[in-house]
Amino acid sequence: MNTDAKTASTAVPLHPLLAGRWSPRALDPGHHLTDTQVTALLEAARWAPSASNSQPWRFAVALRGTASHAAVLAALAGGNRAWAHAASALVVAAAETHDADGAERPWAVYDTGQAVAHLSTQARWEGLSVHQMGGFDVRGIAALLPDDVTPLVVLAVGRRDDTVELAEPFASRESAPRERLPLEALQLTVDLSRAVPAAA
Ligand SMILES: Cc1cc2nc3c(=O)[nH]c(=O)nc-3n(C[C@H](O)[C@H](O)[C@H](O)COP(=O)(O)O)c2cc1C
Repeated sequence: MNTDAKTASTAVPLHPLLAGRWSPRALDPGHHLTDTQVTALLEAARWAPSASNSQPWRFAVALRGTASHAAVLAALAGGNRAWAHAASALVVAAAETHDADGAERPWAVYDTGQAVAHLSTQARWEGLSVHQMGGFDVRGIAALLPDDVTPLVVLAVGRRDDTVELAEPFASRESAPRERLPLEALQLTVDLSRAVPAAA
């Protein structure tokens, strides 16, 4: 499959790291991440913006071939386990939703999503792919983590491999065009200038 076909069709040119990012399932089962690549992914996440610079994101990295990778894989939904076993790393992205004093961090989940976006863009730069997965046993993954963090998503990180044969329905999804809502659908048709009562 020509992976260029998965590059986003955009109204105006975008940076190739953004337009070319997508979520593959055909991953090279023999590929290993280097220590430098793992550091680069976490470093990219580290420099994401966050509310009050609270940096609530936490990551647990499980490299393929380790007991940690097997444990995270076992907690994935079956439809994800079917292909994510080949991921060079399964990375649990979690958020510290409360600070050390127990006060809620209202933007912790939002901030962690931004950190994952940073990580995913850096992965593309490294020639890697990231496929995020919300389909996992939350209690199973939470049991692997410290009590004070909430698991949000598991990232399958690896190198895409054209020669990997996926079972259906994954093979069809791999070659299907990427779809998005039309650009207009993102834009709210509201009058932002209308007068509203001043906040008390
Ligand atoms: C929070 C989140 C959860 C997701 N969960 C899954 C999942 O469990 N399994 C899966 O195959 N893809 C999952 N995805 C991938 C999305 O389906 C994918 O990003 C979307 O279809 C857009 O495709 P693209 O990333 O190739 O542009 C998830 C993505 C996000 C951001």
